[in-house]
Amino acid sequence: MSHNRWEKADPKLAQQGQALIRWTERRMPALASYKRQVERSKPFQGIKMSASLHLTPETAAVVRCLHVGGAQLRLCGSNPLSTRNAICASLVQHDGIPVFAEYGEDRKTYYAHLEAAVALKPDVVIDDGADMIAFLARPARTTARVGFEQTTTGVQRLRGMANTGSLPFPVIALNDAPLKQEFDNYYGTGQNTIDGILRATNILLAGKTVVVAGYGWVGRGIAARMRGSGARVIVTEVNPVRALHAYYDGFQLLPMSQAIASGDVFVTATGCRDVIAQSDFAQLKDGAILANSGHFDVEIAATNLDTISTAKAEIRPNLVEYRLPNGKRVYLLAQGRLVGQSAAEASPADIMDMTFALMAMTVEWAIRDNSVLMDRQLYLPPADLIQRVASIKLEALGLQHDTLTAAQEAYIAAWASGT
Ligand SMILES: NC(=O)c1ccc[n+]([C@@H]2O[C@H](COP(=O)([O-])OP(=O)(O)OC[C@H]3O[C@@H](n4cnc5c(N)ncnc54)[C@H](O)[C@@H]3O)[C@@H](O)[C@H]2O)c1
Repeated sequence: MSHNRWEKADPKLAQQGQALIRWTERRMPALASYKRQVERSKPFQGIKMSASLHLTPETAAVVRCLHVGGAQLRLCGSNPLSTRNAICASLVQHDGIPVFAEYGEDRKTYYAHLEAAVALKPDVVIDDGADMIAFLARPARTTARVGFEQTTTGVQRLRGMANTGSLPFPVIALNDAPLKQEFDNYYGTGQNTIDGILRATNILLAGKTVVVAGYGWVGRGIAARMRGSGARVIVTEVNPVRALHAYYDGFQLLPMSQAIASGDVFVTATGCRDVIAQSDFAQLKDGAILANSGHFDVEIAATNLDTISTAKAEIRPNLVEYRLPNGKRVYLLAQGRLVGQSAAEASPADIMDMTFALMAMTVEWAIRDNSVLMDRQLYLPPADLIQRVASIKLEALGLQHDTLTAAQEAYIAAWASGT
């Protein structure tokens, strides 16, 4: 098992991981402030937690926070290409937290590791993409009281489970908190997607035509930053309201069937499948670059690309050239997996600070006040916790903001006064 592999790994790898975690934790002041608190109060004492997460320095920071607060943890990855081996080694060797994951693991190993993580028989499940909760959906496998889901696609899957009565326990949709979507998905993924594309290709964005599929929080972040880099941005959308947003934000709106022949770079961010389908490949320009930022590797029909192409060559890490039957070359980044996680380093700590402070504080709230979580359905983190994390972050940034006076509060609450 990989857990033992990391115990025996070169201590230098673990030291490298520890240095990265320390550097990262210094940029996460909200989480650090909560960590100091739980180190004393130990709210997670006796609580068993299994977590499936992108194993990066930022997630290591939240895991270490839960651990010093008393939790017994077991971890696995949530994407084979986002696992950082140095982080796994450090968590095992320096923190004594079992980690079952390895960079580049195949699908079979990924699921074997997930099983090893849930063999802890957790009280609390922390998920990113809902693979762990979906695995636990069979009654015999479930001991957990509550779950947490990090990302849009995971929440989408869990909503499907809740609607069919197969959600195994109440789950808190951390992703749906505005503090997460409007910051981590927008600023964090907006930046990490560009970072991944640049590291994999080293292209100049200025002057390129970039097609962004999906104008949700992630797509908006990517489109805004692509425009800021000098690219001409086309947006594709299926939701009419979001399509209008894209239009009024000044982007060209086109169906993919029309955008496909104009793009130099394509980025999918929809949580949907076959957004660039097999039938689209022949329409691409020679040299087109395909990248995905949605959670799963199904947004670009990469398997079909593999089947139809006449030749395939790895040009640089995370950049594979395919020769199509019509002679054109197209380039797929990071096998169609999350490009910012796979070819770069996921979202920066400054943003993940809020996401993970909210996660840790919501875990404490859920195990303390869990009478609210009565049904096997999805819940939002409590509004007052969201406000508290934002206030801690503002304070850490040295920023001040206005507060309502008593008269203003009364005015807002009243209905009698009008014109
Ligand atoms: N890379 C990262 O670091 C990261 C971070 C957060 C979320 N995500 C993932 O990114 C994806 C998008 O997240 P989000 O928060 O923006 O979700 P969202 O639901 O806010 O937005 C997705 C948008 O895509 C649109 N869409 C769906 N199918 C489409 C199709 N076939 N063609 C065009 N548009 C389509 C939807 O109408 C919606 O507006 C999810 O898979 C999410 O899990 C990735």
